[in-house]
Amino acid sequence: MKPLVIAIDGPSGVGKGTVARALAAELGYQHVDSGAMYRAVGWKALQLGVPLEREDAVAAIASGSTIEVSATMVAIDGHDVTRAIRTPEIDKAAAAVARLPKVRTILVERQRAMGESGGIVMEGRDIGTVVFPHADLKLYLDASAEERARRRANDPAHSGPVALAEVATALKERDRSDSTRAASPLYAAADAIVIDTTHAAVPEVVAQVMSIVRRTLAGER
Ligand code: DC
Repeated sequence: MKPLVIAIDGPSGVGKGTVARALAAELGYQHVDSGAMYRAVGWKALQLGVPLEREDAVAAIASGSTIEVSATMVAIDGHDVTRAIRTPEIDKAAAAVARLPKVRTILVERQRAMGESGGIVMEGRDIGTVVFPHADLKLYLDASAEERARRRANDPAHSGPVALAEVATALKERDRSDSTRAASPLYAAADAIVIDTTHAAVPEVVAQVMSIVRRTLAGER
């Protein structure tokens, strides 16, 4: 059987990364954090002083750059930006470039190419709706805004303010931007399995998701 394409979507700070990484490790699949690609493009645009609302210029950056997203590292044109893209400034820049349809078209094409032979767990906002509408399994993780702000504030990979109120305000703003934008807004695909993780610890969610994956592999769903 061809290895699965697994799509994981959901809002900021819900823990998609942790769950996707654990799932990929368990299955021996590739894990791709599609958000890191938007972040890398935002990072490079800021480096070059390109205004983020200039769609053609930002799209030229997206199409003209080599972006590598591996389990341990994110690089653009060979620059390791793994840590540099996890800052409040890049949170905002990534949300701004993710609003641009031309940028999305370029990155979605690359994301589809990565999933061509299956064996992939890709996380993002539009993976089950746009990138892989025929994914073998679609998961949509959700959690209350308060719990997501708490998780983000405690995320060691993310630098910046740890004051919960500040994190919560920035997160709300990104939720608004991601869900109301015209191009591929965040929503759960009709055939996605929605899991509310507000009261569930990561190992619990991973176990729940793994049992769904086993059923998918066995052809039971
Ligand atoms: O998942 P993240 O927070 O690293 O994503 C960064 C930004 O990119 C965020 O504003 C949502 C956006 N994004 C998107 O629009 N589509 C994706 N597939 C992944 C992320």
